[in-house]
Amino acid sequence: MIVSGKDLAARLKAEMAAEVATFPEKYGRVPHLVVILVGENPASVSYVTGKAKDSAEVGIKNTTLRMPESVTEQELLDVIAKLNADSDVDGLIVQLPLPKHISEDRVIEAIAVEKDVDGFHPLNVAALWQKRPCVLPCTPKGIIRMLDDAGVEIAGKKAVVMGRSNIVGLPAAKLLLDRNATVTIVHSRTPNLAEVTAEADILVVAIGRPKLVTADMVKPGAVVIDVGVNRDPETGKLCGDVDFAACVDKASVITPVPGGVGPMTRCCLMENTIECFLKNQTK
Ligand code: GUN
Repeated sequence: MIVSGKDLAARLKAEMAAEVATFPEKYGRVPHLVVILVGENPASVSYVTGKAKDSAEVGIKNTTLRMPESVTEQELLDVIAKLNADSDVDGLIVQLPLPKHISEDRVIEAIAVEKDVDGFHPLNVAALWQKRPCVLPCTPKGIIRMLDDAGVEIAGKKAVVMGRSNIVGLPAAKLLLDRNATVTIVHSRTPNLAEVTAEADILVVAIGRPKLVTADMVKPGAVVIDVGVNRDPETGKLCGDVDFAACVDKASVITPVPGGVGPMTRCCLMENTIECFLKNQTK
């Protein structure tokens, strides 16, 4: 089964749009998401455009602030402070990566935790690892949604997460653990990588290397979730971290690139924005 994140995201976005349509009457306004983009990184430009498009579909107000690559850290922090103090703003994200002269840690920490719809703020991360209420990071949240929608049983399964990033690998492992999977995290220094991944009932791949996962690394009948977004060095087309053509017949469930995890990440960003908006209303 090829699981379309695009279709699931479209369904969820339609449900959210119906909910958001009731907000002006109930609350006098709709949720507002502000996205800050520094520089012109083509992948980031494309992600930010996608977020604006999804916002429009759901009825969320979207402001995309573009800043030049040369912006100083202090200038960026000043803009964040202003948006933190603006009661009309419910969600605030700064698209990563940032230019080398700006500290991502300082920027993430500067975002008000109650507007951190990425779930990247250290307080949200700590809350996640302590199983307290928090904003869940969008990509791992979207992955769990897809698994649930596809009817994949998580509890008791062996899950292998490839990659240990703050954005995907680590929180994905934690969410799978919270659903009672037995979780292994593998990375570039893991010996016998293929042997470990070939044991996985659920394989989540977030390494950032085109077509790294080949058929021999996949257990027959495994569930394969491909988080990678790369350019195929041969064709120049978008491709994942998994060699899809080689693995599609071996896996029982697999996600395509594009149209898999990506749309679900953005869908969960919309959900998180609504969540933060609603929390704002009851303050
Ligand atoms: N860069 C790649 N993925 C993400 C994401 O989910 N949020 C932000 N802010 N930047 C990213």
